[in-house]
Order: sequence, then structure tokens, then C-alpha cells
Amino acid sequence: MTTDIRGRDFLRLADFEISEINDILDLAAEMKREQRHWSLKGRTIIMLFFNSSLRTRTSFEIGAAQLQAHPVVLSVGQDAWNLEWHEGVKMDGDSPEHIKDAARTLSRYGDALAVRSFPKLKSYDEDRTDPILTSFAKYASLPLVNLESAVEHPCQGLADLMTLREIFNQNTRRKKVVLTWAPHVKPLPLAVPHSFLLAAAMGGCDVTVAHPPKFELAPEVMEQAQQIAAKSGGTVKVSHNQDEAFKGAEVIYAKSWLSREFYGKPVEEFAYRNTLPSWTVSESKMGQTNRAKFMHCLPIRRNVVATDGVLDDDDCVIYQQAENRLHAQKALLVKLLGESSS
Ligand code: CP
Repeated sequence: MTTDIRGRDFLRLADFEISEINDILDLAAEMKREQRHWSLKGRTIIMLFFNSSLRTRTSFEIGAAQLQAHPVVLSVGQDAWNLEWHEGVKMDGDSPEHIKDAARTLSRYGDALAVRSFPKLKSYDEDRTDPILTSFAKYASLPLVNLESAVEHPCQGLADLMTLREIFNQNTRRKKVVLTWAPHVKPLPLAVPHSFLLAAAMGGCDVTVAHPPKFELAPEVMEQAQQIAAKSGGTVKVSHNQDEAFKGAEVIYAKSWLSREFYGKPVEEFAYRNTLPSWTVSESKMGQTNRAKFMHCLPIRRNVVATDGVLDDDDCVIYQQAENRLHAQKALLVKLLGESSS
């Protein structure tokens, strides 16, 4: 029996039971096989982007259209006003509208609201509260979907778990999965690695998070992942040795993320990074694994995060992951809104 999640917000994976996530992915798999047509006819999905996107925007917009819903996409600062989120402030700065008013207004127009808002990367104490998403959740009165916030990218996590299920013919339990830190030219947010870790833990995988010292993920997310793994039959551990972690791995998920120790201090962070050995995923490193599949959320900087040889190999599943965004999000929308009757 499937559980009913109609009307709920989809902000973080850990807000949902493993069974609820599995229900969404079972439906996503049915949709991918095109077993029948699902309809959200007459519904309006409003998407607000504070940041750039290729996959999230196109997969959500096309997914909504395929379900016969009406997608409305707004880029904040271009199509829509810049939005203030601080409470009780005198709004004499750059933002002419408050999220309180925008969220209440959009709630009268649409059936679901989806928001992308990256962290500002200045203050970890502020970013970890996910202020923009939290403000929308407080004031919107329709289901809110996180299209990547400071803390999580749960739609990516859904697609990633769907991809793991496909790789392992649905049996992801105890599969050896490595989430490896990788280099990048900028300090990047923690959202994608957080959501992948939680998703793989929900799948019951044996997850190793491999990263150099000082690149720990948020302790509260590590704690959530441990609790989820205890329920799913998986395990979560950390390694500071990429070569050791890769031995016998069946999936390598590469992603760069920033160091919370140097939050808001990129010059200091890169001075530290320059002392590290190479963490770029190469063909020779992949050769140490158990013929691992290579995963990444995209966009990816080729020959920085991973080499062309890794990315163009048959064992690379990055486009399968990207496609699964479409199916997983369509299933999510149908679960959150309920199908239209005709
Ligand atoms: N993976 C992902 O979210 O891609 P975009 O940033 O292009 O949406």
C-alpha cells in the first residue's frame, strides 16, 4: 500500500520515510516505462529561480507540460522582483518585495510552488538555516518543492536514488557506494552531497564519504544519514584516503564542495587546497574500483572534477541521472498534488 503525501512540502529528503521515497520512485519507474498517461491537467506549477539552472528548469518545465499542467517559470531579479526575506526590516535596499507578500500572492495563483535558492556562502550560521526556502515555507499555503537550497537538493537525490536502483536492478542494499570530494575552481555548496548521502543511505547502500580533512559534511546531515542507514540496513563511514575508498567500489559519485572551516574565505580555502594531492577522478583511479559506475549531478568541469576518459566511458551514467530528474520529478508532482480526475 502506498502512503499519501498529497499537500506536503518537499524540502529535505529526511522529512520523508524511506517507504514514501520508494513510493515516489516506484511511480517514477512506471512513468519512465510509459505504462500509462498520468494527468495534472488544469494545475499550475510556479517555479522561482534565484540562480541559474539547465537541468532543473528544463526537466521541471517539460515534466509539468508532459503531465498537462501549466508551468510558470520566473527568474528572480529578471522576470520577478528581487525579494527580501529578513523579517521586520525597513525595506530601503535593493529588494522591492518581501517573500511574505510574494509567497502569499503566488499561493492564490498556483497549485504548487518550486524554489531554487543557493546559499550566499558568506555566513554558515545563516546559510544553514536555509533562510529563503524557510521563508517561502512559512508564508506559502501550497506545496513547496525545493529545487536546490543551501542545505539540500532533494530532487537530485530522488533522481540519484532512482539511478542507483536501475544500476543494481532495484537491489541497492549493501552495495559499495563512494561519495568522493573532487576539486573545483570555486567553493561549491553542500546541498548535492548532502542529498546524495541521504538518498544512498535510504537505499541501504554501504556509503563511504571520501574527502580531505577539513571537508566534513554538516554533522546534522551525517547524523541523519546514520539514522536512516540504521533503518535501511546500510552503513555510512568517512575516509580521508581516496585510493583506499575506491578499492572494490561499485559506484563512484564525484562532487566538489566547500570547506566549512573556511566558509566565506575562499582565498584561505584555496591556499589549503593547494597543499592537497590530486582528488580529480581519473581512469587509473576508476581502475581500482569494482568496475564502478561513475555518477555526477552535472554541470561538471571536465578534467577538473573528472577526466574526459572517465566521463566519456560506458560506465559513466551522468546522462541517465539527468534523464531521471524528469521521471522522478513528474512522479513527485503527481504524489504531492494527486492526479486530475479527467
Ligand atoms: N543538477 C542540477 O541541478 O543541474 P542544474 O543546476 O543545471 O539545474
